[in-house]
Amino acid sequence: MKKKILVTGGTGYIGSHTAVELQNAGYEVVIVDNLSNSSADVVDGIERITGKRPTFEQADCTDYAAMERLFAKHKGIAAIIHFAASKAVGESVHKPLLYYRNNLVSLLNLLELMPKHGTEHFVFSSSCTVYGQPDQLPVTEAAPRKPAESPYGNTKQICEDIIADTVKSGAPIKAILLRYFNPTGAHPSAEIGELPLGVPQNLVPFVTQTAAGIRPKLSVFGSDYSTPDGSCVRDYIHVVDLAKAHVVACQRMLEGKSKKAVETFNLGTGRGVSVLEIVRTFEKVTGVKLPYEVVGRRAGDIEQIWADPTFANAELGWYAKETLEATLASAWKWQQRLA
Ligand code: NAD
Ligand code: WQD
Repeated sequence: MKKKILVTGGTGYIGSHTAVELQNAGYEVVIVDNLSNSSADVVDGIERITGKRPTFEQADCTDYAAMERLFAKHKGIAAIIHFAASKAVGESVHKPLLYYRNNLVSLLNLLELMPKHGTEHFVFSSSCTVYGQPDQLPVTEAAPRKPAESPYGNTKQICEDIIADTVKSGAPIKAILLRYFNPTGAHPSAEIGELPLGVPQNLVPFVTQTAAGIRPKLSVFGSDYSTPDGSCVRDYIHVVDLAKAHVVACQRMLEGKSKKAVETFNLGTGRGVSVLEIVRTFEKVTGVKLPYEVVGRRAGDIEQIWADPTFANAELGWYAKETLEATLASAWKWQQRLA
């Protein structure tokens, strides 16, 4: 029988791509999302790609009673992939309680309900933000976490700790914490992708909206960093590669292959790319001239970070396969579909 996976935040950007890959791998997908940052139409996109409609429940993970009803209705959930969270770094500085309530209470509810309903496996969406500016690059999972720069980042650290403490207490739960670097791009079909509300804060959606004429020009935040071209360096990973890692993580736990009750993996390409390289590569791939201006640094930005993905490569047998060119081309195709 097909194993049932609960995908919280499954109509969101990364969750929807993961739902596609789970269905392609033969899993039965139940999505729960409160649609606070996504649309129910995304379920249609998942169906158009895979030929199968995932089950969709509109509910809020912070609502314990609603989540209890969901577990009772969808008996036999083998694993949960927990994407649902508020994720805007800047907003979290102004509305910390919203972030602490949403991100922490959602997690607490799921961890309390899992043993009651016999669900043992948990995959958590963490972030490279937990590393701050690492002392050594590329950064491995063994690097110390630095004090969080924002309430959002702090929720990721606290959630990692809550999961570890819960498992340590003897709860019948195994977990995999996935630390994403910079998820980018869209499904090659352009049936699903990222839907930023308002002015995008992330680089690539701003780039594609500028290329589409929605924004007059891109501001490149800083050119005086100690990097090869002076702009910040990040590890941009294709969202489809990222999604596939979740399938592998579920399989690992369901087949009893985890080596520890809580395992942590970096999900990145292992390649650092600067903001100006993004601009140049985007122009090369799309043939569109991108108006941009170098401006001052953005407060709170770290200078450079990229992943050492060796542990995920070796243990999960997972590799980020897509090129930066293919990643940016998919982002542009999705933007053209939206515009
Ligand atoms: P997203 O906003 O597109 O998806 C999150 C989804 O969760 C949305 O559909 C939203 O409606 C839903 N949601 C939020 N709170 C909810 C709640 N209480 N109950 C039910 N649904 C709720 O974001 P994303 O980029 O797909 O991110 C997914 C996860 O990955 C988040 O946990 C995020 O913090 C983490 N992450 C994202 C990035 C990134 O750059 N996108 C990087 C690292 C980690
Ligand atoms: C990338 C680079 C900017 C916009 C954020 C979160 C992090 C994680 C991923 C969730 C930076 C530069 C950007 C623009 C620019 N999310 N930039 N002009 O900052 O690496 O990480 O998203 O966990 O927690 O902090 O990503 O896409 O915002 O920026 O020059 O208009 O692009 O300065 O160097 P970041 P980003």
